[in-house]
Amino acid sequence: MEDRGRLDDVVEVHAAAFPRFFMTQLGPRFLREYYRCVIQYPRGILLTEDSGQGCDGFVSGFLDPAAFYRDLRNRRVRLALAALGGVIVRPSRLLILRANYGRVAGSAVQAGEPRTAELSSIAVRPSVAGSGVGSRLVHRFIAAARAQGAERVVLTTDAADNAAVNHFYQRLGFTCVRTFEARPGRMLNEYAIVTSRFERCETPS
Ligand SMILES: CC(C)(COP(=O)(O)OP(=O)(O)OC[C@H]1O[C@@H](n2cnc3c(N)ncnc32)[C@H](O)[C@@H]1OP(=O)(O)O)[C@@H](O)C(=O)NCCC(=O)NCCS
Repeated sequence: MEDRGRLDDVVEVHAAAFPRFFMTQLGPRFLREYYRCVIQYPRGILLTEDSGQGCDGFVSGFLDPAAFYRDLRNRRVRLALAALGGVIVRPSRLLILRANYGRVAGSAVQAGEPRTAELSSIAVRPSVAGSGVGSRLVHRFIAAARAQGAERVVLTTDAADNAAVNHFYQRLGFTCVRTFEARPGRMLNEYAIVTSRFERCETPS
């Protein structure tokens, strides 16, 4: 059964950590629908870190990214309806949705294999950033992906003006496997880690 409280937490932390990102601008209903797709996808992973103050952060992703994005495209009407509120409040968001539809509905990652997991989103509440929550979430994500049979975990992040986040993944053992132009003017780094190697080298805290 769907955990509504957990979805609310994820939407709230996403909006706080990514205030200017296009998915946030499409509104909380859209975010909720997107993360619901992750939960309902049979090989989806959505993990949260909680403290006395509530939810401190979350990580989401899925095995077999090609199958997940097919699933997402099948749900495009629901996703578009969920974005409607945000578009009515500010019609210019329709342009954002059109410009970014490919990013929502298709991975930038070259990950055709079912035994690959894509870490699609990670966010920590800004007030607790830098205190180890993000690292714990990545450790847990890799362990969960491996438990479901993933041999490697891949992700993308901006190559430019994003040194702290690139450092974050490199420090955790990810290797940058390529840098590519996702769309004109937007360079992304693709990172990968072999799940078996990670579990030999790291002891999740
Ligand atoms: C990136 C993010 C998930 C890292 O989680 P975190 O809990 O802050 O990171 P941790 O405390 O586990 O690790 C800290 C390390 O990450 C780096 N880092 C990246 N972003 C940071 C931030 N906003 N604040 C503090 N450290 C950050 C630091 O350089 C630090 O490395 P160091 O210990 O060698 O100095 C989190 O800061 C965040 O949600 N940022 C905004 C959303 C985002 O950019 N997500 C990634 C999109 S690909």
